[in-house]
Amino acid sequence: MVPGSAAYGLDGSDTIALQDEKIIWVGVQAELPQEYSKASALDLEGRLVTPGLIDCHTHLVFGGHRAREFEMRLNGASYEEIARAGGGIVSTVTATRAASQSELVAQALPRLYTLIAEGITTVEIKSGYGLDAEVELRMLRAARHLGDLRDVTVQTTFLGAHAEPPEFSGQGDAYIDEVCIPTLRAAHGEGLVDAVDAFCEGIAFSPEQVARVFEVASELGLPVKIHAEQLSNLGGAKLAAGYGALSADHIEYLDAPGVAAMAVTGTVAVILPGAFYTLRETQRPPIDLLREHAVPMAVATDANPGSSPMTSLLLAMNMASTLFRMTPEEALAGATRNAALALGLTDRGMIAPGMRADLAVWDVETPAELVYRIGFNPLHSRIFGGQP
Ligand code: NIG
Ligand code: FE
Repeated sequence: MVPGSAAYGLDGSDTIALQDEKIIWVGVQAELPQEYSKASALDLEGRLVTPGLIDCHTHLVFGGHRAREFEMRLNGASYEEIARAGGGIVSTVTATRAASQSELVAQALPRLYTLIAEGITTVEIKSGYGLDAEVELRMLRAARHLGDLRDVTVQTTFLGAHAEPPEFSGQGDAYIDEVCIPTLRAAHGEGLVDAVDAFCEGIAFSPEQVARVFEVASELGLPVKIHAEQLSNLGGAKLAAGYGALSADHIEYLDAPGVAAMAVTGTVAVILPGAFYTLRETQRPPIDLLREHAVPMAVATDANPGSSPMTSLLLAMNMASTLFRMTPEEALAGATRNAALALGLTDRGMIAPGMRADLAVWDVETPAELVYRIGFNPLHSRIFGGQP
């Protein structure tokens, strides 16, 4: 039981009863059912309690770093130019292929710990820096292992369609058919895939190529999501919605038909301000249109070595508000309830009976106070599966 706290999203409620891994009751302390009154209690002294935060879009497992490209961009090179010159994602592929599974885990752990220290209880991790069967599987196994090492739920996403590897340069179709799809089948066979993602962009894969991957995902019964409309509008979000996608992510260039298609399927718009900031983009995602169509919006770090070397979900929430004018409530829902939807998880992201007892306790009073600071972590404590 957690009395004396302000539960986010439940007006007036100040007490949460937990049993094992679950929330079993939420309400005001005076109405606490008799049967729970003898349970051990944790007094949170009026602190804000939110669902444990959920980072629904990360590339947390990778080898090396890309600080040199950061310097190149400061000198005027663009993300696309660097990618087309063989840098970008492909340079991380080289470093990732050179790393063993335990090295990948060791390099990812400090990043994961940084997220956990901010109250994250569920994190999604994508493959996509192996781009061959062996290393894509290695990345997914490393991601799963991270979840065994720390008190956090890891959801794995297969992102074989992230970039053409050097050995298939200019042969995207062959890569999709000969490597990406067989690797997806193998990874699924090993139980390593919770969802399937693809990067639909001029520097990555065409809508037709993405559709081929999504066909196989559907055949395997796996949900899909997409990196779409980040640098241009290829209609990727609409395509993904046609496959009932859990989410379309980035979406700065998303148009009205794309928003309408997402609204029909309940596809979550995952807003990634870290990449927008790092690449100094100017086209903002169509937040007003998403609101008008009641498309759920999530916010994530997109933690990756190139376009978003960021491991702070609180900072992503702050940026979503400051750069895109999302309200603090929208930013918080984006890191909890809607982030759960973006992962297809119906057992978390809200404080309600039956939900997992994943909670974050904050030394603040309101969501606005949580979101407005920059570079400050007010986490008081974290409860994972009922365990403080
Ligand atoms: O989400 N957009 C594609 N993929 C990543 C970038 C990965 C990288 O640059 O290494 C993203 O921004
Ligand atoms: Fe990404």
